[in-house]
Amino acid sequence: MSNRKPYVGGNWKMNTNSDSSSSLARGVAEACESVQGSVELVVFPPAPYLIGVRSILNSRSSAIGVGAQDLYFEGDGAFTGEISLAMASDCGCTQALAGHSERRHVIGESDELVNAKVKAMLDGDLTCVLCIGEKLEEREAGKTNEVNERQLRTGLADVGQRQMDNVVIAYEPVWAIGTGKTASPEDAQEAHAHIRALINEMFGDDVAARTRIIYGGSVKPSNAATLFDQPDIDGGLIGGASLQVEDFAAIAKAASGA
Ligand code: PGA
Repeated sequence: MSNRKPYVGGNWKMNTNSDSSSSLARGVAEACESVQGSVELVVFPPAPYLIGVRSILNSRSSAIGVGAQDLYFEGDGAFTGEISLAMASDCGCTQALAGHSERRHVIGESDELVNAKVKAMLDGDLTCVLCIGEKLEEREAGKTNEVNERQLRTGLADVGQRQMDNVVIAYEPVWAIGTGKTASPEDAQEAHAHIRALINEMFGDDVAARTRIIYGGSVKPSNAATLFDQPDIDGGLIGGASLQVEDFAAIAKAASGA
């Protein structure tokens, strides 16, 4: 049993509207109240609803954190459509995702751009959830570890040892995201152990022992507990199931018991 506090994030992606984001926030605050002390819980709503979700959680004195799904690395200026770190902080965000596979593979972000975002988030004192993971063809070609290593080393280039306290790694095999196909607990554990060994090489054993490495990709109430029971899996980043209050709460409970 590690002493890392489990982490469960709800990545709402490009879903919800003003009403449904508010009711989801209210529902999650209520349903997760009993596990808030034992699991770090964070929701990542679409940017237009950040302020609304934060104020609902505040009004319920909820410990659930709010994060941005993506941020640009520049401070301000002529970057049409982008959101800065200061804006996200202003909206109550304490965390942000970087390098989610949909940003990498749908929008086309490079490892280097992801690294610039990671550094900006850490320099701005936000917790950064760096997402990495291989595509199906890469897994079938036996390249899972190679892809994870490249995305981890480039994503964390020039990150200081102390800054690692504000980093969570999300291992999300791309073929498992939104597909209903989950990595087996054994395959996920193997990838997580490899990632932890790399962090050890890069930052030393204290940092490796402290860093939370969470799993993402079709996590649901029925598979959460067996995944979270693995020694190197410290929680999950939840997409589809985070849009259902009961499912998200059941997954948070599974993490609290792991
Ligand atoms: P999923 O998404 O749970 O819908 O597979 C996970 C993610 O993309 O973070």
